[in-house]
Amino acid sequence: MKAAPGAQLPIKDIFGRDEFIAGVWRVLDGNSIRMEAERRIGKTSILDKMAAEPPIGWEPVSVYLEQVHSAAEFAEQVCEKVHERLTGWKKQGRRLLSFLGLLGGSHLGPIKFPETKNRPDGYWKKLLTGAIEDLVEQQAAAGKRVVFLFDEMPWMVSAIAGSEGEQTAMQVLDVLRSLRQSRTTGQGFRMVLCGSVGLHHVLGTLRQHGYKNQPVNDMMLIEVPTLDLPVAADLAAQLLAGEGLTGDPTAPQLIAERSGGFPYYIHWIVSELRVGGKPVTPGDVDLVVRKLLTASHDPCKLRHFRERIAGYYPKEEKVVLALLDHAAKSTTPLAQRELIEVAKKSGATDEDQVRELLHLLSVDHYLNRDMDGRYTFRHTLLRQWWVIERGLN
Ligand SMILES: Nc1ncnc2c1ncn2[C@@H]1O[C@H](COP(=O)(O)OP(=O)(O)OP(=O)(O)O)[C@@H](O)[C@H]1O
Ligand SMILES: [Mg+2]
Repeated sequence: MKAAPGAQLPIKDIFGRDEFIAGVWRVLDGNSIRMEAERRIGKTSILDKMAAEPPIGWEPVSVYLEQVHSAAEFAEQVCEKVHERLTGWKKQGRRLLSFLGLLGGSHLGPIKFPETKNRPDGYWKKLLTGAIEDLVEQQAAAGKRVVFLFDEMPWMVSAIAGSEGEQTAMQVLDVLRSLRQSRTTGQGFRMVLCGSVGLHHVLGTLRQHGYKNQPVNDMMLIEVPTLDLPVAADLAAQLLAGEGLTGDPTAPQLIAERSGGFPYYIHWIVSELRVGGKPVTPGDVDLVVRKLLTASHDPCKLRHFRERIAGYYPKEEKVVLALLDHAAKSTTPLAQRELIEVAKKSGATDEDQVRELLHLLSVDHYLNRDMDGRYTFRHTLLRQWWVIERGLN
């Protein structure tokens, strides 16, 4: 196995996620899923592996939504994916093809969608609903259930809100919910909504524009965890071996600890060690980690965690930074009271607002709350970066 930070991995190199994925399939039996987690933790890799190796009885359909900015583009993308599967099955695809047939589309070869000016009223809703109904019907006949793996869904909903207005973004969420609840499609299909931007941020914005629905309260929220340390050490060992790097036998364990179990950072550390090309010592691992944390071109893209704070917590940036600085410096779990006092010193006046902020910081993966309700900075490597970046050491 080769070190390839950020690359789309061959399925066989997606390491240590079998148990997690088996759990996801078990949940899908009963519910659709929101899969959220920190950036770069390996969400897309998990979806790729699910799509490549579905259990018997499931038909996965992967749809990558980062480039989608309108409801019509979304419906058309789903429609294309469905069409790829319907081709060759003559009797099915009736809704989709007749709908497109009426619009002058063709069912041979790639679908030709109408230009914007020729789209009838309700175009994207009918297209989306028709496509999903057609596929669910065909798969039901084959004894299978369909699961749509929608990657970067919150991102798309927010892009649609930006380009077509909040109303359309709300309708997209509502249509998807009604498909999940429908008597025709509901039992025959599931969806996984995946993304690194928490859907709660997007819903929060929509609510400010009058959205009252609960479009995802039928879905199960699952967080993707980091790899357990022994599994992370195993990945490090395999990558070191794949790169022909010998050295100290404790190196894999050390890499696992320093990376906090993030496979992405494990790839980065080994990739940097490869540049050295000599037997690896524990000192080399520490040096490489330090280099990754301080290099001005920010290879691990860590600045993102600082930059998004203004957008995530508008008007509360100062208090949030004080809370995170305090948590980053502390090596022991922090009581809520202590953090409230820290927030007050940086200008917070309403204690409940601070509690709400602490809740959001946990949902956004900055903090961890233990079973006694105490907080720690969540990710090891990020904490170390935060301390250096903010000059706290
Ligand atoms: N299970 C894994 N085994 C080995 N390497 C992995 C695994 N998961 C992720 N990686 C590494 O981390 C990188 C990022 O993974 P991936 O794109 O799946 O994360 P993501 O959570 O979807 O990121 P983003 O938030 O940017 O969409 C991969 O290119 C690969 O280098
Ligand atoms: Mg991804």
